[in-house]
Amino acid sequence: MAPTRVIIDTDPGVDDAVAIMLALASPELEVLALTTVVGNVELEKTTLNARRLLTLAGRSDVLVGRGCATPIGGASGTAAEVHGQDGLGDLAWPEPSVQESSEDAIEMIYRLAQEAPLTLVAIGPLTNIATLLQKHPDVVTSIERVVIMGGASFEGNVTAAAEFNIWVDPEAAEIVFAGAWKLDIMPLDLTHQAFLNDDDLNFLRGLDSEVGDRLAAMLEPYAKFHEEWVGNRDLIMHDAMAVYEVIDPTAIQKDGVKADVETSGVHSRGATWFTRSFHHAESSTRVGVAVHNASFVKLLRERLATYPAKN
Ligand code: BDR
Ligand code: CA
Repeated sequence: MAPTRVIIDTDPGVDDAVAIMLALASPELEVLALTTVVGNVELEKTTLNARRLLTLAGRSDVLVGRGCATPIGGASGTAAEVHGQDGLGDLAWPEPSVQESSEDAIEMIYRLAQEAPLTLVAIGPLTNIATLLQKHPDVVTSIERVVIMGGASFEGNVTAAAEFNIWVDPEAAEIVFAGAWKLDIMPLDLTHQAFLNDDDLNFLRGLDSEVGDRLAAMLEPYAKFHEEWVGNRDLIMHDAMAVYEVIDPTAIQKDGVKADVETSGVHSRGATWFTRSFHHAESSTRVGVAVHNASFVKLLRERLATYPAKN
């Protein structure tokens, strides 16, 4: 089977970095571009991080398109306390050789979608994807499906109600949820079932590769943050769930839903609502509900082990 043509819309981000490295090492996917968005850190930094990650992976064939610097609903906030001031755990990096394209993210996605069917994997706030829909409504006919990490069925991680990617730009999420396309949403209650631990960090270090070393180094402060926050060092693989869904569409159990987002409300802005009544069982919008972590971690380890060892 031909690999799935994919664009990853991202705000790297430590867990974005793992998701991107997984995607780049997976033969089921043809990653055409990383498009960047404001989110975990400012756009300037997420764009630099996309270039750093592609340089680390040795993938100058993958385009980098710069997207939106400000959420549609206005400036909100970043997650530098989770991902580091630079977004990737504040390591020292060499100047990346992979350059940014002169084409912006929105026009890049639209152009690549005209060439052949495309799957959008959105692992940051949905500002770029919503802007794409607003500027080029006909794009829905050439997007095979949109797979996003975002939202929560039960509890948020920025506020009690809202998950980060949706909280940053609820207006964008509202536009994307209303789009006439196939939409698969990987919310927090799914992603918290997918995590690495200290054994996996040791595995990464033992690979003796630049990719393994860098991922382990950037995951260390991510583990520390989690320990201070909830008392354990689980490394939650939020964004990798959206990539895993495209690699193996049977791996994650999903329910048909109607998806809504709260754009107003003092305490509820950014909350998502997934209505699971029988009316929506066959909906083109689905929400991930269950994943088998051991199978995911096995695949992730296998794929990350394919990056070349250090000289
Ligand atoms: C999401 O928020 C970001 O901090 C992560 O990269 C992930 O995309 C999890 O809520
Ligand atoms: Ca992200």
